[in-house]
Amino acid sequence: MQKYDKIYKHNPEYFGHTSKQFTTMFNNLDFDAGLVLDLGAGQGRDAVYLANRGHHVIAVDTSAVGLEQLRERIEAEHLSIETVHTDAIGYAPQHQFDAIVCDRFFHELASNTRVRVLEKYIGHLKSDGYLLIADDKSVLPQLRDSLKKHGFEFIRDKNGILFALKP
Ligand SMILES: C[S@@+](CC[C@H](N)C(=O)[O-])C[C@H]1O[C@@H](n2cnc3c(N)ncnc32)[C@H](O)[C@@H]1O
Repeated sequence: MQKYDKIYKHNPEYFGHTSKQFTTMFNNLDFDAGLVLDLGAGQGRDAVYLANRGHHVIAVDTSAVGLEQLRERIEAEHLSIETVHTDAIGYAPQHQFDAIVCDRFFHELASNTRVRVLEKYIGHLKSDGYLLIADDKSVLPQLRDSLKKHGFEFIRDKNGILFALKP
């Protein structure tokens, strides 16, 4: 059983609610009914929040336990969320997304793969699509540099959050 399976099995609400920073950012946008990819979705706190705002969410994670807990919520609350149990490094989405959310996902990857994975996924983000990365401050500089190189406009770059718009 992998690390997060054990953690999630022990605590079905390990990460608690979606952070205030996260909800404030999305509440301030004129953005609803989009297709959103949640990478490293875990138990799905952000996916649930976004589905409740009217989005359809694809939630990707390697933790079978986290996704099973999320599926129970999807069924009970009739949420518009699909779960994909796979490694995001090799995953090839069939869609172009209106937003991609990576809430404490990138620090889980080896440092020499993060930019490659980011660049693959920004290829699946529509023009004018939103990218939200929340992570350890040490992880953000290489991701920020890559987003600048690709012409992203930063809506917020503060307190461990990169919130950017694709050109
Ligand atoms: C720190 S948790 C964050 C969970 C969720 N985003 C949240 O904020 O509640 C990181 C998650 O990334 C998942 N993860 C780690 N490496 C992954 C990979 N290569 N592909 C997909 N998911 C991965 C873990 O299973 C875990 O659920």
